[in-house]
Amino acid sequence: MNGLLITGTDTGVGKTVVASGLARLLRQTGYRVGVLKPVETGWEGPPGSWPPDARMLAEGACVDDPPEQVVPCVYAEPLAPLVAARRANRPVDLNRIEAAWQQLQDRDWVLVETAGGLSVPLTDTLDYAGLAARWKLPVLVVARPGLGTLNHTFLTVHYARSRGLPVVGVVICGYPSHPNVAEQTNPAMIEAMCHVPVLGRVPRRPTLTSADEAAAAVAEGLSLEAFLNRYAELQHRVTHD
Ligand SMILES: Nc1ncnc2c1ncn2[C@@H]1O[C@H](COP(=O)(O)OP(=O)(O)OP(=O)(O)O)[C@@H](O)[C@H]1O
Ligand SMILES: [Mg+2]
Repeated sequence: MNGLLITGTDTGVGKTVVASGLARLLRQTGYRVGVLKPVETGWEGPPGSWPPDARMLAEGACVDDPPEQVVPCVYAEPLAPLVAARRANRPVDLNRIEAAWQQLQDRDWVLVETAGGLSVPLTDTLDYAGLAARWKLPVLVVARPGLGTLNHTFLTVHYARSRGLPVVGVVICGYPSHPNVAEQTNPAMIEAMCHVPVLGRVPRRPTLTSADEAAAAVAEGLSLEAFLNRYAELQHRVTHD
């Protein structure tokens, strides 16, 4: 099984869009794909209903796993998991998360989406970087295209490395058709500053609300071949170093 943690430089940067679209590309290539959003916050629906990220991930991957498999922990308040958990008096259930992960071990690919960024805490002692380390997941960083992204991306990549996580690359989400100077120059600067490839520029759409739209945008902006080659190269390095 090939695993991947899809994180971002911030909340709302396009992690779900990229994860869902990438899941679809892998699925269309014939892989059996699993998706996991260990914790989703900001959802108040009844138990067994679909929070929006989990739904888009499942629809992207074309899986019929139930919501509690795709998103084992849900909180109503739109907060970091640890904070939402404290306020709900219900700690993040790592056993449920681990069980959901174990259920996916027979898939060819498993894509895991963080809530917010890599240092966001799930418990007092575990953040998403710790979860990625536990599950041996390389990291894909989704970043914004514009001014400010150099610093956010650099910090995320360096935090990943400081925790021993291989970084597959960066995907810029929401790249405009008429980029300004910052947007034009950022991809090359990210590569130079972070020493990772920018694997895609997912185009900015007027609206993007469905898994099919995410799949189309990601197919346009990201080369699956480049992603797979880079992933394979990293895995080779990890196992031979
Ligand atoms: N390429 C794009 N073009 C237009 N809108 C986009 C694009 N990518 C993402 N969006 C929109 O931006 C918003 C945030 O995207 P998304 O939900 O994928 O971010 P996220 O990083 O997963 O956020 P969260 O931290 O809440 O999980 C959504 O409303 C989505 O539809
Ligand atoms: Mg999301």
